[in-house]
Amino acid sequence: MAINVTVNGEQRTLDVDPQMPLLWAIRDHLRLTGTKFGCGIAQCGACTVHVNGQPRRACVTPVGSVADQAITTIEGLEGDEAVAVQAAWEQLDTPQCGYCQSGQVMSAVALLKQRPKPSAQDIDAAMSGNVCRCATYVRIREAIHLAADKLEG
Ligand code: FES
Ligand code: FES
Repeated sequence: MAINVTVNGEQRTLDVDPQMPLLWAIRDHLRLTGTKFGCGIAQCGACTVHVNGQPRRACVTPVGSVADQAITTIEGLEGDEAVAVQAAWEQLDTPQCGYCQSGQVMSAVALLKQRPKPSAQDIDAAMSGNVCRCATYVRIREAIHLAADKLEG
């Protein structure tokens, strides 16, 4: 079945089962491999993308349910929040193995768009669904504070 999706501002047509998880449509059909597979059951956040600006776990989102909606992956992330997060991640050398980090960045950018000056509790709440097996949590929190400071100017 043909499904129209808008990914990173580009309209694409996929000939797939509408029940296929968005994650596989993105990775296998659109070849955007920055979005990672971790658990497959909405527990780790590795597969986080934005749907209409909101973080969404692509592993449990049927692609048919997001037809004609605006999907953003790590490859298409742009804007002031994305630039600030990327700079802060680099400055604090946040990733370790890197596997979870695209999901972490997607959640962090969505948080800063919603709350430009998040409290420590806001950060913990927004990032609680993103697991890092390398335990980079302290640097992630610091980097989000730093990105917020950069955005404030
Ligand atoms: S792979 Fe989707 S939340 Fe873990
Ligand atoms: S940096 Fe290795 S899993 Fe998070």
